[in-house]
Amino acid sequence: MQTFSIGLAGMGNVGAGVFKHLRGNRSLLRERLGYELEVRKIAVRNLSKDRGCEVPAELLTTDWRQLLDDPSIQILVELMGQKQESLELILGAIERRKIVVTGNKALLAEHGREIFEAAMRHNVPVFFEAAVGGGIPIIKTLREAFVANHIQSIHGIVNGTSNFILTQMTEQGLGFADALRQAQDAGYAEADPALDVNGGDAAHKAIILASLAYGFWVPPEKVFVEGIEHLTASDICFAKKLGYRIKLLAVIKADQGQVEVRVHPTLVPASHVLASVNGVFNAMAVRGDVVGDALLYGRGAGQDATTSAVISDLAEAADALSSPRRNLGFTPHSLYGACKPIGECTSEYYLRLAVDDRPGVIAEVASILGRLQIGISSILQPEAAEGEIATLVLMIHRASHAQISTALSQLGALGCVRKTPRMIRVEHFS
Ligand code: HSE
Repeated sequence: MQTFSIGLAGMGNVGAGVFKHLRGNRSLLRERLGYELEVRKIAVRNLSKDRGCEVPAELLTTDWRQLLDDPSIQILVELMGQKQESLELILGAIERRKIVVTGNKALLAEHGREIFEAAMRHNVPVFFEAAVGGGIPIIKTLREAFVANHIQSIHGIVNGTSNFILTQMTEQGLGFADALRQAQDAGYAEADPALDVNGGDAAHKAIILASLAYGFWVPPEKVFVEGIEHLTASDICFAKKLGYRIKLLAVIKADQGQVEVRVHPTLVPASHVLASVNGVFNAMAVRGDVVGDALLYGRGAGQDATTSAVISDLAEAADALSSPRRNLGFTPHSLYGACKPIGECTSEYYLRLAVDDRPGVIAEVASILGRLQIGISSILQPEAAEGEIATLVLMIHRASHAQISTALSQLGALGCVRKTPRMIRVEHFS
């Protein structure tokens, strides 16, 4: 039976999972694939670290460049999760015509264009199923299963850690810090957990999904990003009262050749399937012009789920070595190519204002919104004792980001508004 040789760069959580499950499911993989996948060399930082599985010492090296220099290695798995070194490794592998498998979402989001230009030049595939959605096969689905479709929209819960935190806050009444600590203990969070809560990790994944769906690498600076770090228990509570759940959503939409990519906390109707995606689970609701609505759901983080995605790429890499292919993992095309400026993106909104409890306050607020042509769809004011600061929650009809931003600064300047107004977008998936 033919054997394909793998160089594994990085043996953290996922690298160890890949090694373990390639061995554990070896017979199944052999039967299914018709060839053997063998790890020939592993680059690690620390030779003596306990990885939770037996690794023969002769496979290990602390020099990842050895993987590039070893001519017997045909497939290079980049799981170092670095920026500069990982880029050097991937570009070096492409130049040496080694097929690349990576889960490095930050690198793809920032250097996808450069990586795939090199891949095209050398005709070497780069596979990246593990970069988005952990074990959910969203990359292959967009690339292959939905090849017939113009993708009209993707709404995704693509960061497990923030979804876990929001779920714990919503269902267990847990504080933000405790929920984050639990996610870190479970191994879901990034090395720098700020990326999980500030929307950065979700934005990397949104860029990859949008680029794949629309055939050009979306520049990171065109993506609007807002995290969950400023959400309060009272917003979660009001949202619930109004029939919504708050989720950190990646919203990707095509509009007359322009592409909208944004990541932000979003009020999702409790009746919508994305509202029930809880804990570390991820989901992507994809709408295509041919397939209609489809939903992918699964574990978005964690060793085993992500390992499953990496091994599926290894199988694809081995197939590509057996019979050359046209699709190198990403195929650019020219049907789209521009991003919609955030100011022009429209949405519905939830606004929470802390205001003086005196006659005329609602009129002042309404008159600002009215002058800006912004419509109110409902108002909620929980009863407060006389003289206390009152809370006003307004649900706002569809308006542009530019309109609502102006409204927020004018409302914030009113004497009767006591704190910075809070705004969260609302999505009805229509
Ligand atoms: N930190 C990421 C998450 C890991 O929580 O989703 C998977 O990319």
